[in-house]
Amino acid sequence: MGCKDVRFGYDWEEHGAGFILVGYRRSHLRISILGCGYVGLVTGACLAEIGHEVVCTDNDESKIVTLNQGALPIYELDLDEIVARNRRTGRLAFTANMGDAVRFGDAIFICVGTPPLHDGDADLSSIDSAARLIAEESRNSKLVVEKSTVPMQTGQKLKRALAIYARNLGTTFSVASNPEFLREGTAVSDFLHPDRIVIGVGDERTEAQLREIYRPLVEQNITCPVHNGSCPPKAPPRLLVTSINSAELIKHACNSFLAVKISYANLIADICESMGADVGEVVEAMGLDSRIGPQFLSPGLGFGGFCLPKDVQAFIRLGEKAGVDVSLLKAAECINKLRIDSFVAKARHALWVLKDKRIGLLGLAFKPGTDDVRFAPATELIRRLLQEHAEIQVHDPQAMEKIKPLFPSIRYCADPHEVAENAEALMIVTEWDVFKNLDWRRIKHAMSRPLILDGRNLLNGNEMADMGFEYQGVGKPADEALHAQSAKSR
Ligand code: UGA
Repeated sequence: MGCKDVRFGYDWEEHGAGFILVGYRRSHLRISILGCGYVGLVTGACLAEIGHEVVCTDNDESKIVTLNQGALPIYELDLDEIVARNRRTGRLAFTANMGDAVRFGDAIFICVGTPPLHDGDADLSSIDSAARLIAEESRNSKLVVEKSTVPMQTGQKLKRALAIYARNLGTTFSVASNPEFLREGTAVSDFLHPDRIVIGVGDERTEAQLREIYRPLVEQNITCPVHNGSCPPKAPPRLLVTSINSAELIKHACNSFLAVKISYANLIADICESMGADVGEVVEAMGLDSRIGPQFLSPGLGFGGFCLPKDVQAFIRLGEKAGVDVSLLKAAECINKLRIDSFVAKARHALWVLKDKRIGLLGLAFKPGTDDVRFAPATELIRRLLQEHAEIQVHDPQAMEKIKPLFPSIRYCADPHEVAENAEALMIVTEWDVFKNLDWRRIKHAMSRPLILDGRNLLNGNEMADMGFEYQGVGKPADEALHAQSAKSR
């Protein structure tokens, strides 16, 4: 697939108060993706999968080289397969020539990073650079779609920036916000089976273009590569058309709500732990209330990753600037930060002094199904344990290579059994399924003290106690062994 300059794929005619599409329609759209991170790659590959022609670019040339060699710079379930297939069919290409990529698309999706600044604000410098690139390299009018998570009113600023940077070139741009709700680990499936698609637009023409882009998903007119034709039953997604400001706000509002929900579960866990109830029983009953729902009520080491922590921070900053009381969000953030404190305190309580104690960590990724360790609870936990001069050995099925540069001095083990060798405690940090089904009797045999601190409530405390482990979960009555005995005698 070449990256030659193309005319816009639609013809528009004024019709009453609005526009109608004339000469409609090419069977697919040409889409450019700026940014080959997790959002850009999943979006690009999935848009190709549903029939569009896509060219992705990134200012990190090494990523493009990797992609053109047929490898992926991130681990994401099912992504390798759809990237490979769509490259083969010619619907998906990667180029380091950012100008070519910009000129290729009828629509350009901005998927660049918006990391937090030291004060919690989102760093929008990559969005500004993208605007300059698009303005300077485009030869015709284009739709520019904000996919990166940005604070409200960024769309207005983007539109202004595009107009300023293109002022001598005669090109014009329409701008839309199309937030993504993909979860790492299930991103491909989430993209193909969304709960909803939100498009924030300022005019009918932009709305029609985005409707066209997402038509195969709304009509469920796709062959799903994830479920091999037997997708779980789900209603087709609703496509919601909003203002650009609302679309931007929806993204922050959703992620912050999820963060508040997790912190609420952690607060309940703390009360359970100090007063003798079982958080598993409590949240199960809560989740059965259809107004509450069971998801995002798992207590543990708290929320990490590159989305929830930074989005809550950015939302707090936005609210403060708007003069709104954001203490609810601050409390959620504070509860989350305290998760590691209380987990380390638990380790100290069980082991007394941590210095020179050999501690094994199972799991490093911020959640299962990904190799992402950005803002992962494991990183803060390792830092704290190193401060106390504990000896640390770790294993993760996917994230070892990603965390090595941060902690070159700790011991990386080939499997969980090696992590257990002579350890005085094993900490469960990420709830990978494989950890559930380990040969726990063998693990117990390898440890110098059979103590398990389960930061994700992955294991069954009663079963572990039966095997002779000292087991402590999160939000469980203090003496889980006793609890196990009483459960047995019931
Ligand atoms: C999150 C949102 O769920 C997506 O909808 C959104 O699109 C994405 O951010 C984004 O902004 O790009 P993600 O960061 O992939 O997705 O991870 P989540 O599944 O939301 O988990 C976030 C963190 O919360 C993880 O560390 C997880 O372990 C933790 N968590 C989650 C809990 O501690 N308890 C729970 O009950 C659920």
